[in-house]
Amino acid sequence: MHTERLGNNEQDLQRAAELLRRGEAVAFPTETVYGLGANALDAAAVDKIFKAKGRPSDNPLIVHIAHREQLNQLVAEIPPIGNQLMDRFWPGPLTIVMSRRAGVPDGVTAGLSTVGLRMPDHPVAIALLEKAGVPVAAPSANRSGRPSPTTASHVLEDLAGKIAAVVDGGATGVGVESTVVDVTVDPPMILRPGGVTREMLQKAIGKVQVDPSLERQGGGSDLDPLLADHDRAHGIQDFVPRSPGMKYTHYAPKAEMWIVQGDVDEQMGVIQSLVDKSRAEGIKTGVLTTDENRNAYRADAILSCGTRGNLETVAAGLFAALREFDQTEVACIYAESFPEQGIGAAIMNRLRKAAGDRIIG
Ligand code: TXA
Ligand code: MG
Repeated sequence: MHTERLGNNEQDLQRAAELLRRGEAVAFPTETVYGLGANALDAAAVDKIFKAKGRPSDNPLIVHIAHREQLNQLVAEIPPIGNQLMDRFWPGPLTIVMSRRAGVPDGVTAGLSTVGLRMPDHPVAIALLEKAGVPVAAPSANRSGRPSPTTASHVLEDLAGKIAAVVDGGATGVGVESTVVDVTVDPPMILRPGGVTREMLQKAIGKVQVDPSLERQGGGSDLDPLLADHDRAHGIQDFVPRSPGMKYTHYAPKAEMWIVQGDVDEQMGVIQSLVDKSRAEGIKTGVLTTDENRNAYRADAILSCGTRGNLETVAAGLFAALREFDQTEVACIYAESFPEQGIGAAIMNRLRKAAGDRIIG
């Protein structure tokens, strides 16, 4: 299949909308990452998303809408707190999980009784959704397991020849995916940290809980990495994530990645000595760092994902940096870590997944 590369002018958006209405899969920008969209009410179209991505069928998709009236087709019941969250955070990087209507294809929800919904805050996404006139199911537009795409070129790296088109709207802003919050439970539960932080949610609606499996993923310094390795080796799954997608390998660069914890000076010292050690063994080694520290290392590839002075820049640059390591020869990457407040929680969640929970310190 030839993948059309479309711009964000009126004519190209009409073309993309027509492809969506015809049941094709089309990638498009949102404020978080690029999504791979298909008509959410067309089971055959939705199936094309899973095929192109190589996505496991038990991982449900987020449905994107341009207008709240579209919820009537999709959601059985909107709890008051759902409305409060939409008032406050839509359009924006918040996916709200609610009970589904029967008409939503099983492929979208992976057979769950719930459906995740979001109204993206991106002019190209909204224009496309409006022109298509249908709700659009869209996971991130990467091959399953790869870092999410933040540019149209990233999408083509992974999906050229497998999808009908990509709409190029430039680099995305937030850079990590939406926060997923389940409002079918009380208090609402964060299933995936993202662009809307826990602190912002608490301020808006009071109490929120966090899926315990997220805390478990290396969240606390009290977590014994050997124990975690043991659990993994034995397939122990006491903490099965409630967001099905969170259990899969994600965002992984080709090199083996390790996250180094501790205060920043400590991290830097540990990273340099680990790099020296692995290079002495003949292993090409990279460092994932920040603008402040990039000149302090000696390694085979040193990539900054943003500035510590503003963690939003780190979120925006993280996935591109992970992809860039694949253009280098490194077989091993040591990564700095970040405080888990605000957007830092989403950054560390994605880093831990990219590292397959390999954590030092
Ligand atoms: O920012 C985003 O959310 C991007 C853009 C394209 O909108 N989309 C995205 O989709 O990240 P995806 O498929 O890569 O991640 C969707 C996440 C998965 O972890 C999935 O398991 C979870 O949302 N999810 C979707 N529907 C759910 C549901 N009904 N219950 C629980 N988790 C759900
Ligand atoms: Mg994804």
